[in-house]
Amino acid sequence: MFVKNAWYNAGWDYHFTQSQQNGLKQGKGALVARKIAGERLVLYRKPNGQIVALEDRCVHRQAALSLGVKEGDNIRCMYHGLRFGPDGQCNEIPGQEHIPTKACVRSFPVVERDNWVWVWMGDPARADEALIPFAIGPSHPDWNVKTSQMQVAASYRLEIANLADLTHLAWVHQGTLGGPDLQTRAKFTTIKPTFTATSHSLRTEYVVRDVPISSFMAHLFPPETRFDLWFDITHTVPCTWVLHFRVFLADGKADGEPAGQLIADTWTSQAVTPNDGETVDYYYSWGAARHCEFPGLSELLRDNLDDAFTEDRHVLEAQHVRVREKPDFPTISIIHDNGPSRMLRVLDALLAAEAAGAARPQPLTEAAVA
Ligand code: FES
Ligand SMILES: [Fe+2]
Repeated sequence: MFVKNAWYNAGWDYHFTQSQQNGLKQGKGALVARKIAGERLVLYRKPNGQIVALEDRCVHRQAALSLGVKEGDNIRCMYHGLRFGPDGQCNEIPGQEHIPTKACVRSFPVVERDNWVWVWMGDPARADEALIPFAIGPSHPDWNVKTSQMQVAASYRLEIANLADLTHLAWVHQGTLGGPDLQTRAKFTTIKPTFTATSHSLRTEYVVRDVPISSFMAHLFPPETRFDLWFDITHTVPCTWVLHFRVFLADGKADGEPAGQLIADTWTSQAVTPNDGETVDYYYSWGAARHCEFPGLSELLRDNLDDAFTEDRHVLEAQHVRVREKPDFPTISIIHDNGPSRMLRVLDALLAAEAAGAARPQPLTEAAVA
């Protein structure tokens, strides 16, 4: 089950190459096939650069339009040659003069923002650009952001739950984002986040104090150095997660905002796009602020995410198989399920509201996330 009246990420802008400007030539990657929230899409850029998203399913015999060719603003099905405009309307049937009005494939609203391509999967009349999640993209002048992506063979609900509980850094990510020592594990597993509802997002903040730096950066500092790690996370329902992650030299205080020297100031933006109930496309970035970066830091951050999300992928894919095998298996809850439970509750409320015919996603309230 997916929230349909929502923006879903279809990838980074550079996935949609604009290799053909003459309107006719078929370039590599001219037609991009995606599956988002259970719908098959074909996306392409028009010669003016705008991206078109159509259902990847010819209205004639359901051939894949993504196996067709782009012709200027149009796309042609290469089974029997029907041609469709960017609005999805068929505008040519070779060998037949009459074009029925219902010779039309579904088109989807598309917006490019922050170097991401967003597709509205619900009623086009309800597509509201104000609902596009906040993100920091690689073309942002103040941040040196690097991008990546991977596919994970797991339900998007498992991926969201994973992101909503970072205590797993202590266990899954000992060699990357977390650390191997027991003291650091203890700090991560006693996190007490604050949760705030902000419009269509759930914000989670906390500071992990007086710990060694994450394993992947350990070679950069003397081993005895201690740090305060400030996590400021915004999860926009259903599927986008951004983290402002700052590293300070430990200030020795027990609470309050970190006051030590700022060592790294970073943003990561992450979009979990469900293909269907079985797999997700995961688009993510990480990068440092230009005001305090050093050569190679942003690349190190991004490469570490590739490693860390591979660690997550192994856990989530194995978990997904087991949940599929025994969906009614009697599991237990622990204190660290707090974050994931809130997030999934908000998601379920959105699904229920949409099923009940709500006009548009309602802003979150404090009560909704309590
Ligand atoms: S299936 Fe597309 S033209 Fe026949
Ligand atoms: Fe993780």
